[in-house]
Amino acid sequence: MSKITTQKLRRMKEEGEKISMVTAYDYPTSVLANRAGIDVVLVGDSLAMTILGEENTVSIGMKEMVYHIKPVVKGAPDALVVGDMPFGSYQISKKKAVKNAVQLMKKGGCDAVKLEGGAEMAEVVKAIVDAGIPVMGHIGLTPQTVSKLGGFKVQGKSVEAAEVLLKDALKLQEAGAWGLVLEAIPEEVGKLITKKSDIPTIGIGAGRYCDGQVLVFHDMFGLFQRFVPKFVKQYGQLGDQVVDGLETFKKEIQEGRFPASQHKFSGVEEEELTHLY
Ligand code: KIV
Ligand code: NA
Repeated sequence: MSKITTQKLRRMKEEGEKISMVTAYDYPTSVLANRAGIDVVLVGDSLAMTILGEENTVSIGMKEMVYHIKPVVKGAPDALVVGDMPFGSYQISKKKAVKNAVQLMKKGGCDAVKLEGGAEMAEVVKAIVDAGIPVMGHIGLTPQTVSKLGGFKVQGKSVEAAEVLLKDALKLQEAGAWGLVLEAIPEEVGKLITKKSDIPTIGIGAGRYCDGQVLVFHDMFGLFQRFVPKFVKQYGQLGDQVVDGLETFKKEIQEGRFPASQHKFSGVEEEELTHLY
């Protein structure tokens, strides 16, 4: 498989070939996603919740993102690896935004960055793109501003709100974004934005008509059990499987059934050690 590029993803949109994207925060997950031929691997700031146990994604910083992007890049040589810009890394000034996007690319090694927000972020997107960095937008439910949105709620639920989202999408496209994540919006709005934009739309809770779909790995495989959003499909129950395994492990230790003879090392006979007892 040859390396996925943003140009290839754009061709996929034009040819109606659907795009697959999944999160990974570490090397083993990234290797699995690459083996499965997933097109885009996202080092999402959702890792704040799924693996660091935070309430939301607000607290995560640049250092943590770089730390997690590095092993994902090593594990997925064929996928396009996108690194999330953390909250606070692109809101203060265009200059700081460019500097931080450069850091994610240089220190993390990702192929592109993603940031949240609509028309208000267009200038920032343009500045980062002008610096030579592919940028993905993210509109609809934007978890970094969950406090402003009043919770993890579906967005774009009125004609007016849908129109704003469409304008946001087109502004981001005009600013040079190569693609858009559409999160938690009505299917009809996802369809409209997908139709009206030239760049690929990747939906998460945005219905069936987006150019591609993304899910959070830990949601897909039952590894994050605090809550499961409506838009998630679970493709496995690894969490339950691991708990079963650990319970068996504990029981076998208690009953003296683990380790068994095939797990032991030999090298000296017990009789030879008698004088040491
Ligand atoms: O951080 C993340 O996992 C994301 C996806 C939900 C798109 O931004
Ligand atoms: Na994110």
